[in-house]
Amino acid sequence: MRCTRQLLLLSLSVLWLPLCAQSVPVANTPPMGWNSWNHFKRNTDDSVVRAAADAMVSSGMRDEGYVYVNIDDAWEGERDAQGVIHPNSKFPDMKALADYVHSKGLKLGLYSSPGPKTCAKFEGSYGHEQQDADTYAAWGIDYLKYDLCGLRDVMRDQSNGDPTIASKIMRDAYEKMHQALLQTHRPIVYSFCEYGWDSVWVWGPGAGANLWRTTGDVNDTYDRMSVIGFSQAGLAKYATKGHWNDPDMLEIGNGGMTPDAYRTQMSLWSLLAAPLLAGNDLTKMDDITRSILMNRDAIAIDQDSLGRQGDRVSAVGPIEVWMRPLAGGDRAVGIFNRGPATTYPVGFRFREVGLAGPVRVRDVWSQKDLGIQRGSFSVIVPTHGVVLLRLSSRRQVRR
Ligand code: GLA
Repeated sequence: MRCTRQLLLLSLSVLWLPLCAQSVPVANTPPMGWNSWNHFKRNTDDSVVRAAADAMVSSGMRDEGYVYVNIDDAWEGERDAQGVIHPNSKFPDMKALADYVHSKGLKLGLYSSPGPKTCAKFEGSYGHEQQDADTYAAWGIDYLKYDLCGLRDVMRDQSNGDPTIASKIMRDAYEKMHQALLQTHRPIVYSFCEYGWDSVWVWGPGAGANLWRTTGDVNDTYDRMSVIGFSQAGLAKYATKGHWNDPDMLEIGNGGMTPDAYRTQMSLWSLLAAPLLAGNDLTKMDDITRSILMNRDAIAIDQDSLGRQGDRVSAVGPIEVWMRPLAGGDRAVGIFNRGPATTYPVGFRFREVGLAGPVRVRDVWSQKDLGIQRGSFSVIVPTHGVVLLRLSSRRQVRR
């Protein structure tokens, strides 16, 4: 009897093995790391990626949680006679690069497209999904950004202009790579990049997305970054642990915005539980860039274990107040100034963000505890800037 039970348990565990291997949770909190695209575009190569990995360690970023080193478009070479993808000559040995990145306690990410071609017109994965997933797994890849681009031609040609058919082609393509990644039995973060089409936040998680882009591309201007960031209102309910809205990568340190605007991006992205993928040259960071990317209080908000995304509370003139509920009942609150001039003091009532009674206030960017406050609080917010607060109170009110 005992033996039968043991045999049963053994056979059940054998059955479970592959399933367990597939269900290793990834992206339990929003992924943090670096991506080559925003700064280097196509000018990326093996040495750029190694230098980014080195700098991620020496700057202290790795120890603050930045672990993914993600190669974006322009690594791809040709397929061989068997259809196996090879990197181009700028990446002589992808496995050796992955080993190097792993030796630093980091993880390596890669980019492809469900279409025949990527956005930068390199080789995509169309018709080679399982082969590519297997190749990535053999190299030791930990993260895949899958960018719609070239598939749009296929969708147009095969749908006869019917958007429902076009959408199904797209969803099937993302699901196909999802299944291919599962077959590798390697935990690989799966990042959808289809610019928020067809409410990807609704169907993406079911097709295996750990994160999904919600908009077109960010760039290094306050206008574009803020339009993207503030357009995320209403998406909070789609974010859950392992499945995150992605308003695109960080531009902090790329030189096109003021420090206040970069603090806005870091604050808003943290309130949005967004991936924190630095997009600058990590080997040439000034102190302000480091202080923004490595602000522990902001990172703690982004990575908060409750896993709930924040949302807009109010928008009056140039001032927007956003709030994210945190584990243990704390609230992160960002008061943003989207206007061209520094504001007069603006006040908000704690009740508006769900807190009552005495509230302990910490200012994230000045790194100061501002003591216990009651009722309301007022701040002065510089143009294109933000005051980011962490609030704690024993008493909460229903909103
Ligand atoms: C698209 C994506 C970008 C980047 C480029 C690469 O534009 O949205 O993030 O990956 O392609 O070609």
